[in-house]
Amino acid sequence: MKYKKILQTDIKSNYTNAKSNTLSSYMMFDKRLINVGDSLKFHLYINDYVTHMSLYLQSNTVIDKKHKNSLMEVERLYVNKEQKGEYEHFIEKKLQDTIESELLSIEDKRDIIYTSTSELTNSLYEDPNALENVQRSKNIVKPILQSIIYDDKAIKSFMKIIEYDYYTHTHSLNVSIYSLCLGSELGLSQTTLNALGCSALLHDLGKSSIDRKIVNKTGLLSHFEFDKMKRHPTLGYETALKIGITDKNILDGIRHHHEKLNGMGYPDGLKGKEITLFARIIGICDIFDALTTRRSYKSALNSYDAIYLMKTHMYKHLDMEIVNTFIKMLHN
Ligand SMILES: [Fe+2]
Ligand SMILES: [Fe+2]
Repeated sequence: MKYKKILQTDIKSNYTNAKSNTLSSYMMFDKRLINVGDSLKFHLYINDYVTHMSLYLQSNTVIDKKHKNSLMEVERLYVNKEQKGEYEHFIEKKLQDTIESELLSIEDKRDIIYTSTSELTNSLYEDPNALENVQRSKNIVKPILQSIIYDDKAIKSFMKIIEYDYYTHTHSLNVSIYSLCLGSELGLSQTTLNALGCSALLHDLGKSSIDRKIVNKTGLLSHFEFDKMKRHPTLGYETALKIGITDKNILDGIRHHHEKLNGMGYPDGLKGKEITLFARIIGICDIFDALTTRRSYKSALNSYDAIYLMKTHMYKHLDMEIVNTFIKMLHN
């Protein structure tokens, strides 16, 4: 095998216990993200046999040309999930560099974004707090996400989100995956699901037009800041229009995901039936993801507590029939 030579000279090899190091403890790593001069804060592994992981490149190794060439010859690289934090930090930086790069073609950029999207999708499906029980929808969700990412207008908008902020990017992706699962549970057609996934992926697009300091503020927002923040659905709608998105349902989901059934939402204060199906679905998935995601300033609720909170405190805001379908989907 080609990589054996490298293992002997530059990189320490270390066979690890198969039981505690099965493939499910690892995430795939896209080797195209590595450049000469990079120094990774996590180890890279290869799988020599189905049950063995072997350390291929130690953390903090400064990548030189020889490393880079060798890495390109390896078929698949992995990162241990124990180093997920370091990996995510690296991905955040790299995805931003990827988008800005003039050396990569748009096809390469899409492939890289799709690979990282696939990884994030897989981790949501492995999370007992998220979609562990909903494996059946994975075969529906993944191809739809792929077709969204390979759509010109959608990718342009999604790149804006990735460039802007890693949390908004992962949140957008999560909301898109939840919405697609829920939409398929509700029996929506393939074409409608495509549009729903796109709308959900771009629902917070407008945040990329707002000062990062406000969007990422950990404490309470002042009235002034909150007013600015409340403009993101309209700004997103306007940006999507400018980019050339014309599908009314997609635009509507972006503009109305913060509307509430009792008319107390924003930006248009819509009531009851005025709020369309896309906005209702995305609104529910948006809240669920925000409640179940850990952030530096707040811990994550488990899915039961999040649902309980939604049922007891948000029944005037959310479509409870859809919430009930969401609960059935997660906990059947
Ligand atoms: Fe939002
Ligand atoms: Fe959101």
